[in-house]
Amino acid sequence: MFTKTAKYYDEIYSFKDYSAETDAIRSIIKQEHPIARSILDVGCGTGEHARRLATDFAVDGIDLEPEFIKSAQSKVAPGTFSVADMRQFALGKRYDAVLCLFSSIGYLRQEREVTQAFTCKGNRSSSLS
Ligand SMILES: C[S@@+](CC[C@H](N)C(=O)[O-])C[C@H]1O[C@@H](n2cnc3c(N)ncnc32)[C@H](O)[C@@H]1O
Repeated sequence: MFTKTAKYYDEIYSFKDYSAETDAIRSIIKQEHPIARSILDVGCGTGEHARRLATDFAVDGIDLEPEFIKSAQSKVAPGTFSVADMRQFALGKRYDAVLCLFSSIGYLRQEREVTQAFTCKGNRSSSLS
């Protein structure tokens, strides 16, 4: 869905204050889970939150858009960024905090898709219908 515009994404959203957002997220995580070390950013886009959070946490991310994943991976070298669908992914790993920011969850159109995302049923090779 972002394939044609991926290269412009950071410019288009340059008005967004990712630093302030990340500061707020960091302080919520530290308050709710003071020993949190690992974060999964679901629908991570180009990695603008991830790269800022990576100063304090080990951050991985998934997104549907391959160009975004390339970008996020280049910004956060130690993380693992994968092309995956939030409705069915299996990373074989647990995280201390899972984020889904800037309305990424809103791309799921049906309640059952939201349930799938929260429960991560299935695996990457099964089909959605
Ligand atoms: C508005 S962008 C937000 C990106 C990023 N979180 C940010 O704050 O800049 C929504 C993101 O959700 C991703 N997305 C939409 N549906 C998805 C799905 N089913 N699985 C994974 N990512 C998805 C899009 O590719 C896009 O990167």
